[in-house]
Amino acid sequence: MSAGKIGRRTFLQASASGMAALSMAHRTTGAVEVTATSKPALLGGEPMRKEPFPSWPQIDERYEKMWQEVLEKRGWCRLNGDYVERFEAEYAKTIGSRFCLAVANGTSALIASLNALGVGPGDEVLVPPYTFVATINAVLLQYALPVFVDTDRETFQMDASEVEALITERTTAMIPVHLGGNVVDMDTLSAVSKKRNVPIIEDACQAHFAEWRGKRVASLGDTGCFSFQVTKNLCSGEGGAMLTDREDLIERAGSFHTNGRPWRETSGFSYVRNGSNLRMTEFQGALLFEQLPRVEAQSQIREQNAAHLTKRLEAVPGIYPEKTYEGTTRNAYHLYMFRYDAEAFGGLSRDRFREALSAEGIPSSPGYTPLNGQPFLKEALYSRGFLNVYGKAAIDGYFERMACPKNDRLCTEAVWFTQNMLLGPQQDMDDIADAIERIYANAKALMA
Ligand SMILES: Cc1ncc(COP(=O)(O)O)c(C=O)c1O
Repeated sequence: MSAGKIGRRTFLQASASGMAALSMAHRTTGAVEVTATSKPALLGGEPMRKEPFPSWPQIDERYEKMWQEVLEKRGWCRLNGDYVERFEAEYAKTIGSRFCLAVANGTSALIASLNALGVGPGDEVLVPPYTFVATINAVLLQYALPVFVDTDRETFQMDASEVEALITERTTAMIPVHLGGNVVDMDTLSAVSKKRNVPIIEDACQAHFAEWRGKRVASLGDTGCFSFQVTKNLCSGEGGAMLTDREDLIERAGSFHTNGRPWRETSGFSYVRNGSNLRMTEFQGALLFEQLPRVEAQSQIREQNAAHLTKRLEAVPGIYPEKTYEGTTRNAYHLYMFRYDAEAFGGLSRDRFREALSAEGIPSSPGYTPLNGQPFLKEALYSRGFLNVYGKAAIDGYFERMACPKNDRLCTEAVWFTQNMLLGPQQDMDDIADAIERIYANAKALMA
């Protein structure tokens, strides 16, 4: 337990003494005084907040102008326009990689990476169980086996210290996910990757502008993948990018993403490999090119607000904000994540806690469920294709090896806020913290 935290035994004492341990923030909402210890909104009190948080995505009139330009030029596809290419050049420079391949979405960036690295049937790929399902689906689409690495509950990231023990002669890649914009322990992973010759595909789909020791994520592995889906910190409805320093990988992925045409050829009917069509449209490229300059300023606002919120929440017993590793020089805060300990709230369940939070005007999410335990995985691995490659005994054995107990626990404790909630004034963070303090102080009454 860190300094400043109050243990479970002091719960009753703390709440009875009017939250003596907490900062007693209070303010006025209209004529009603709202304080941390006043009646929770769920029990009929005044909600801590009535204003919505900043909306997302954000619109700028320049986007309209650009789209009009693309529309009128009739170069709607990258094969006859130049916005996608201009975005690729700018984004590669911004992230600090030699090459960028813009694609239709983040899933496509992962698929292009796996294809470029030659991952296929019979291979194993190390993945976290705490991620969006696309990380796993990309592996399954190659008829490779996702091998789950348990989660470090303190950071919500793949536990890098467990990776090496899971490597076998079949392991052909690892996909660490910089979950929520926080960063995986890249020192440990890079050392294992080098020692065991297992390439790294960074899934940075949620981590635009996050940094490890001053370098932007997605520039540290063999490839790095971004999503520009509408909720992301840089977005174009759908969209994605694969970054790499390796000439062989940009050539293979670039060619794969345009039906196996030689990379950078825009016409003709001769092919160097099989492939798919994962191309980004010019509309997406224009929107991303125009938005790129605002990402830095917004990242700074999220960081400042997150730091303030963490300072406040660390003082609340049973609330454990995500930690970062020593090498993390920037968290992108696509999500603000914390663990909720129901016992410290006198047994108030996470669902009831979130319900009370919602009544206070604070939306939240309980986050992921364990991917390694979901029925879709059994459905996929016992399909004819997988059984043909691996055989039933190997698939039975696979499920016996895939326990991730730390992750199972995390999935019962997690609470998330979305990135747009961090884009307003610092008062918004105080609203969140005040609401949580109020719930803590009234936990017993809320149980009823
Ligand atoms: C961690 C992670 N990986 C992959 C993806 C897939 O990206 P997309 O939805 O753009 O295909 C996402 C998207 O939410 C993601 O969060």
